[in-house]
Amino acid sequence: MTAIETANNISDAVRKYGVMEMPDLEYSLELAKQTTPEYERVSTVIPPVEWPAFAPYVKAINELKKQRNAVILAHNYMTPEIFHCIADYSGDSLQLAKQAASTQADIIVQCGVHFMAETSKLLSPDKTVLIPDLKAGCSLAASITGADVRALREKYPGVPVVTYVNTSAEVKAECDICCTSSNAVKIVESLGVAKVIFLPDEFLANYVAGRTDVEIIDWKGRCEVHERFTAEELRAAREAEPGVAIIAHPECPPDVLAEADYTGSTSGMIDWVKTNRPKKVVMVTECSMSDNVAAETPGVEFVRPCNLCPHMKRITLPKILDSLVYLKHEITIPSDVAARARSAVERMVELGR
Ligand code: 13P
Ligand code: SF4
Repeated sequence: MTAIETANNISDAVRKYGVMEMPDLEYSLELAKQTTPEYERVSTVIPPVEWPAFAPYVKAINELKKQRNAVILAHNYMTPEIFHCIADYSGDSLQLAKQAASTQADIIVQCGVHFMAETSKLLSPDKTVLIPDLKAGCSLAASITGADVRALREKYPGVPVVTYVNTSAEVKAECDICCTSSNAVKIVESLGVAKVIFLPDEFLANYVAGRTDVEIIDWKGRCEVHERFTAEELRAAREAEPGVAIIAHPECPPDVLAEADYTGSTSGMIDWVKTNRPKKVVMVTECSMSDNVAAETPGVEFVRPCNLCPHMKRITLPKILDSLVYLKHEITIPSDVAARARSAVERMVELGR
């Protein structure tokens, strides 16, 4: 790369804030003592032998985020050392979007997947938004393009388009309003129409269709994590663990949801466990969420099945530290796309006020 190319490749964030020194990552008894409060939060789900690998990063990240005036937003699927030890705010997609809209920080480090970081950038256009791994995608977001939405509009003229936040900014820009798993029915009904196009998750669309009189036109996108659950494995869990509570995310197939005692967003599921304190529970969703709740709910046993999201698991402590030191990877959205996508997200946030 030539000097000019290198200069052109420096991100706005680096120009504005500059890179920092990589902190010392040596583990010591002193460091063990300093990070005891953080370890105590996760001691039931992270064995002591694993803590020396996490502790230097936890300390470095917590110090650096203050120096950077950065805020760390973590989705409920982050691993416990991220969720409980370095996050400033955690939550489901809607809660994280609201945090992004109201933060006073200069920098947002989004510990989640790419569409979540884009949503933060849309709601906080003047902030630097970083994602620790640009490849942290989502099978739902990858299932549809802006051109697909334009084709649907041509096929169904005048029918409004509601899009799940699990989509790219380019897709949001073609839609009327966004929704998340926690407000999808409310958003669909808020439009006051008889028919809507609902994108891109066919299972969430089916779940919404069962709870409203509004006719739903769907798209055949699926979450690669939730589509793998089966009703048979849940029936087997009930047989093996009599009295077990089964709670599921609405991205699951309909026959899986039919087996569930409760269906809700990731935060809805967490609240359900904290409120109902079942003796045993299957959280039919991403595995790390069970670990995160287990750390806070002694006495509740978390029974399998659960599945891992390979995209969420790309976000690790070393990559988060790199993010803060080198200010990578900065989220940018072309301004014409951003303006249209922002209004779809803002309409959703406004409805919740
Ligand atoms: P929530 O909005 O319920 O957190 O869901 C996001 C997601 O990606 C679930 O797979
Ligand atoms: Fe996307 Fe599914 Fe992963 Fe959620 S769990 S980020 S919907 S692939």
